[in-house]
Amino acid sequence: MTAKLTALQHRPADLIAERMPQHVAVIMDGNGRWAKQRGLPRIMGHKRGVDTLKLLLRCCNDWGIGALTAYAFSTENWGRPEEEVEFLMVLFERVLRRELAELMAENVRIRFVGNLAVLPASLQQEIERSMVDTAQNTGVQFTVATNYGGRQEIVQACRAIAHQVKQGNLEPEEVNDALFERHLYTQGLADPDLLIRTSGEMRISNFLLWQLAYAEMYITDTFWPDFDHEEFHRALVNYQQRHRRFGKL
Ligand code: IPE
Ligand code: IPE
Ligand code: MG
Repeated sequence: MTAKLTALQHRPADLIAERMPQHVAVIMDGNGRWAKQRGLPRIMGHKRGVDTLKLLLRCCNDWGIGALTAYAFSTENWGRPEEEVEFLMVLFERVLRRELAELMAENVRIRFVGNLAVLPASLQQEIERSMVDTAQNTGVQFTVATNYGGRQEIVQACRAIAHQVKQGNLEPEEVNDALFERHLYTQGLADPDLLIRTSGEMRISNFLLWQLAYAEMYITDTFWPDFDHEEFHRALVNYQQRHRRFGKL
């Protein structure tokens, strides 16, 4: 994998620099099916999925995409078998610990969004450490949605705003899009331009419900562990051919 990575560097010639998405969001789906197809336990798919994520981060860095947001664990994923949930929590922690030095070397700024307070304490510590250590980095802004739910995010924003109104610090008329956005987990991050979902499912699954309002969607049948730089390249070419109208003509 290392050889392939060092070979990347340059943006493929058919991608137009001025039309690169500034923020790409990914629903990393299909790890379980990838493993099943090979007669492997589902967790092997999750392990391989980490490599895909690392590769995309590298592509963003090399090709001029400023922000990458990845859906790692949804509020609904707690409903999976206990062993799988446990494995994922341990995997997140292990990967963070193992990759932090490389994230620093690559100048990546990492941030976690979601209800982090209920994650295992040791994982919370690694999350905190990675966010503090990389806070001053100026490269790709890498956001990981962990125990994330779009509805929950909107509800907690409403609750925070309601408190301010109740305390008399805010007038209901002052609640607008800009104010609302400042209460989302993703505050300060521009909305995604492109949403990629792997493994063919044509749904949002409670991801970034507010932020995806005008994102271009790209869905591929490829399972997440098989999504590589060529697939990413293909998605970007497709994106660059779109005509984004934002409701206008
Ligand atoms: C996505 O792959 C990873 C997570 C949701 C954590 P899945 O685990 O959903 O894989 P499939 O959809 O069952 O194949
Ligand atoms: C979405 O995938 C969540 C993540 C990728 C973390 P799921 O596999 O959980 O979504 P559904 O169940 O197919 O909608
Ligand atoms: Mg899935």
